[in-house]
Amino acid sequence: MVFFRSVAALSKLRSRLAHQSTSLGSIRWLQVQSTSDLDLHAQLKDMIPEQQECLKKLKAEHGKVQLGNITVDMVISGMRGMTGLLWETSLLDPDEGIRFRGLSIPECQKLLPAASPGGEPLPEGLLWLLLTGKVPNKEQVDGLSAELQSRAKVPEHVFRAIDALPVTAHPMTQFASGVMALQVESEFQKAYEKGMPKTKFWEPTYEDSMNLIARLPTVASYVYRRIYKDVQIIPADSSLDYAANFSHMLGFDDPKMLELMRLYVTIHSDHEGGNVSAHTAHLVGSALSDPYLSFAAALNGLAGPLHGLANQEVLLWIESLVKECGEDITTDQLKDYVWKTLKSGKVVPGYGHGVLRKTDPRYTCQREFALKHLPDDPFFKLVSKLYEVVPPILTELGKVKNPWPNVDAHSGVLLKHFGLSEARYFTVLFGVSRSIGIGSQLIWDRALGLPLERPKSVTMDSLRTYCTKAA
Ligand SMILES: CC(C)(COP(=O)(O)OP(=O)(O)OC[C@H]1O[C@@H](n2cnc3c(N)ncnc32)[C@H](O)[C@@H]1OP(=O)(O)O)[C@@H](O)C(=O)NCCC(=O)NCCS
Repeated sequence: MVFFRSVAALSKLRSRLAHQSTSLGSIRWLQVQSTSDLDLHAQLKDMIPEQQECLKKLKAEHGKVQLGNITVDMVISGMRGMTGLLWETSLLDPDEGIRFRGLSIPECQKLLPAASPGGEPLPEGLLWLLLTGKVPNKEQVDGLSAELQSRAKVPEHVFRAIDALPVTAHPMTQFASGVMALQVESEFQKAYEKGMPKTKFWEPTYEDSMNLIARLPTVASYVYRRIYKDVQIIPADSSLDYAANFSHMLGFDDPKMLELMRLYVTIHSDHEGGNVSAHTAHLVGSALSDPYLSFAAALNGLAGPLHGLANQEVLLWIESLVKECGEDITTDQLKDYVWKTLKSGKVVPGYGHGVLRKTDPRYTCQREFALKHLPDDPFFKLVSKLYEVVPPILTELGKVKNPWPNVDAHSGVLLKHFGLSEARYFTVLFGVSRSIGIGSQLIWDRALGLPLERPKSVTMDSLRTYCTKAA
């Protein structure tokens, strides 16, 4: 029965992918596999030896090819533009934005299964795509939803660990502490202590990553309900998909909010490997710290205002703007407010990026969501006005490399529209989503046997000596 079901699913998927092949050359086409199509773990097991061979061949044939020159500027300026990291799940183009395994956000919206036809992609589908490089069908995504649900039980001590913190602690502190408390269940740590060959590392990493992804919505919603809703906990609803259930446990059941959460979790999941949170997880994981330790470290990076905390900063900044000038703000008042922010030594939150040089497609798809579902929301209108006012001012400054909005410029007003208005909590939502990208890549890090990360550092003295000699 399972065999016939998987054959039917396979042929349906093959014909769909064959149809896509004309327009999307970068998707890896489904190969005939000896294992069931619905079994994600088995699919990976099939793929890993092939990918290990690819990496070996790449190293043997092209290992000595140069990838650009490292300049002193790059060393001093936070390694900007320096290629130095393998990250399989996604790739960022400065002009075009993110591609998840070759697919842009609009392509993901078109191709990944949705809860209902024409709806936003289900994050489980993205997880499947990031792990396998293949577009899953609805049956596969539903199976993965069920698998995540079966892994979602959070041990009681995790809640007690969070309770040990003052309720006033920042939500990200509470969330990261919860993740550290989850670590006591690490399968990787147990297996490593017992002793296992390197070829097996990916298996307990898979278990830990999937368990982590599955459990985070419960931990995150506990933090929310503890801080803002007097610890009135809402149990999970097993009839819902991953993102919808998360929204439900937070206390938001409006069908449009469920759609927003599906979109939100999908687009925040991964942004190639060099950003602070992804790179941190990769670095910590390279020491063979398990996925919980690696991801908790990533969350601490995400909690910085130049990275994930920017979504909190944007809404607080807009709210203080409204407090100062009212909702019917003129363009001149807006310009004055932006200049006032800059002159006080602050950055304009939600604008600029380390890699992107155009409007972030994650911003654009949220704007499209707003145009479809909340076109008259006054805060959305303000965000739209800022889109006109901020870029010319940042350009005028002369030093900002990217004056355009990023993902964080938009997310807060959408959440606020549906009642989730506690800005200090926003980065936790980002964190839940980011586990999907980081978890997927950590599995591949161990499957490919990537080594300890250890770049060379230099002192100013040694740089000066080197440059004088080289001159
Ligand atoms: C994202 C960010 C950290 C990228 O930093 P970066 O790669 O160093 O960016 P740039 O190379 O363009 O920075 C050059 C200068 O412009 C400034 N700049 C960049 N974005 C700015 C912004 N939104 N507002 C004011 N100044 C900005 C930088 O602070 C830097 O100033 P300095 O030379 O005086 O230190 C930066 O654009 C920023 O701080 N943005 C606001 C915070 C934010 O939205 N973060 C979320 C990113 S997804």
